[in-house]
Amino acid sequence: MTQDELKHLVGRAAANYVLSNVAQGAVVGVGTGSTVNFFIDELAAMKDRFRGAISSSIASTERLKKHGISVLELDEIETLPVYVDGADEIDHSGHMIKGGGGALTREKIVAMVAQTFVCIVDESKRVDRLGKFPLPVEVIPMARAALMRRLAALGGEPVVRLAKDQSVFVTDNGNTIIDVHGLRIDDPEALEAEINGWPGIVTVGLFAQRGANICLLGSAKGVERID
Ligand code: 5RP
Repeated sequence: MTQDELKHLVGRAAANYVLSNVAQGAVVGVGTGSTVNFFIDELAAMKDRFRGAISSSIASTERLKKHGISVLELDEIETLPVYVDGADEIDHSGHMIKGGGGALTREKIVAMVAQTFVCIVDESKRVDRLGKFPLPVEVIPMARAALMRRLAALGGEPVVRLAKDQSVFVTDNGNTIIDVHGLRIDDPEALEAEINGWPGIVTVGLFAQRGANICLLGSAKGVERID
């Protein structure tokens, strides 16, 4: 199976999870990325069963609206039963690296509110130790050079993310992303706390303190649910 076919498989499995586990009329949290796009397309077929979605990016909002799915503001709700999102890496404890698509800050906010985080990935994303995928860090542009020096001091190689046209990539929040290559991540929760504590950091793409509750892992054998 191709990676896209595996992404489609887990996207469909996540829609089935929502159908079986989320009460009719509830709001669903929706992440960002190519795997989530398959989930959104599957969700469209059952859009009458739920009230709407909380979206983690402009791109997902546009896709949801194209399907006629209502997108609510986070301020409009108090509880969110489920949040479905992809990841760039996930370890055996449900800790993740996220932000390959640049939506890490809003993703972390929606994940914070959700009761259950369902991570949907193909098997290439499952790792024993996080860090092969460059760690995305969203920063306030003014702090860019100073934070690159601090990130380099941790042992990584920080690189400013560029857009397709080679201009500096700008997040939905108007900020910059630094991708940190080659970082050794022994304790994801401690590293998340440390980096998040620095002035100028908006979000680090480590999702360890609030990891995934359930992982739907797609492989040629099908979809495995890991709790
Ligand atoms: C976006 C993310 C995505 O979930 C992550 O990059 C995985 O994307 P894809 O499903 O396209 O591989 O964190 O910020």
